[in-house]
Amino acid sequence: MTVIGLGAMGKALAGAFLDNGHPTTVWNRTAGRGGELTARGATEAATAAEAIAASPVVVVCVLDYDAVREVLGAPGPSGLEDVLDTPGTPDDSRTPDTLGTFDGGSRTPGTLEAPDGSRTPGTPGPLDGSRAVSGLLAGRTLVNLTNGTPRQARELARWASERGADYLDGGIMAVPPMIGTPGSLVLCSGSPEAFTAHEGTLSALGAVDYLGEDAGRAALYDIALLSAMYGMFGGFLQAVALTGSERIPATEFTPLVVAWLNAMLTSLPAMAKAYDANDHSATASNLGMQAKGFVNLLETGRDQGVRTELLEPMGALLDRGVAANRGGDDLSALIDLLRTNPARGADPTRATDDPTRAVDPAKVTDAASYDLGSE
Ligand SMILES: NC(=O)c1ccc[n+]([C@@H]2O[C@H](COP(=O)([O-])OP(=O)(O)OC[C@H]3O[C@@H](n4cnc5c(N)ncnc54)[C@H](OP(=O)(O)O)[C@@H]3O)[C@@H](O)[C@H]2O)c1
Repeated sequence: MTVIGLGAMGKALAGAFLDNGHPTTVWNRTAGRGGELTARGATEAATAAEAIAASPVVVVCVLDYDAVREVLGAPGPSGLEDVLDTPGTPDDSRTPDTLGTFDGGSRTPGTLEAPDGSRTPGTPGPLDGSRAVSGLLAGRTLVNLTNGTPRQARELARWASERGADYLDGGIMAVPPMIGTPGSLVLCSGSPEAFTAHEGTLSALGAVDYLGEDAGRAALYDIALLSAMYGMFGGFLQAVALTGSERIPATEFTPLVVAWLNAMLTSLPAMAKAYDANDHSATASNLGMQAKGFVNLLETGRDQGVRTELLEPMGALLDRGVAANRGGDDLSALIDLLRTNPARGADPTRATDDPTRAVDPAKVTDAASYDLGSE
């Protein structure tokens, strides 16, 4: 295995491969981050090209897609993304030349290259010529575990395939201390052949679930889950800011928030069912009532000296629901008001026995039992 990127997550990934007996080569832009891994048996490559050349499977886990592109020499925003089509419907009219034009990117190859090519710990090292790096991908499997959008994943998959590489995209639904434990879940999509060939190796990271051939599907699930998570975290921040405005210790109030959120979570399956059936009529708490009550959340924030910027969009959405004559409906009616894409409902072409339809929720574990301070 090769692991590119030795931030908190990359280190955890490389460590898990080592723990499972996989010879592992690592590389990081800034030198000096692989020490602990080399002590455990990893080989630290001097350049990204050397790291890629070392293994048939190259795992990339860096900050974002700009970083991925920089490491691999893939086109930047004005290269690939300008010729974008509708998400999920790749435009086959694009020529390999268009896709491969590195100069279309906003970054200059080698900008991070040290003048003398040397790498000193704590300083960014050479990227050794991006064209050379991308040329090494042929015949290898690129597993990109960097967080990104479905569109970015699909573009990179296409770019990798143009270079003869198999591509798997992954969303890591875990924090670094969970990697390699049964509590970690990695959602993958992309090349079915690559997944079949490397599922065993990737399972060193934890539970690995394959969501099908569309390279963007794993990112869609990842981003959807994170969207739900940030909604919850935003609500928690607001709640603690409110109680904190009267100097109630957060630790005192939080157990009640946890119990409340757990109780509220039980209503989600019914809302999902209502959304799928497009029938939002079964409600004990209609939107009109909720829109009225929500005004009090905003007013309390103002009265207590707590900013309401996290809550305002939800209030506006409730008002839009009422204005759209959905005041008698359930909260689930608001989902359609969020959409700018007219497609709605389950894709009728999806086979009911498709094993990639659903991820087993039991694979999601709670992070609380992991030592989050150890990274
Ligand atoms: N940590 C988590 O809890 C978590 C959970 C799930 C998913 N993820 C995802 O995992 C990925 C990595 O996260 P992390 O926690 O490892 O982040 P991190 O600790 O901040 O590390 C970032 C990594 O990206 C590299 N990098 C940044 N810009 C680069 C560039 N232009 N060229 C080359 N390398 C570059 C950094 O290299 P230098 O050392 O040279 O700066 C470093 O190796 C992210 O996409 C993140 O969203 C993280």
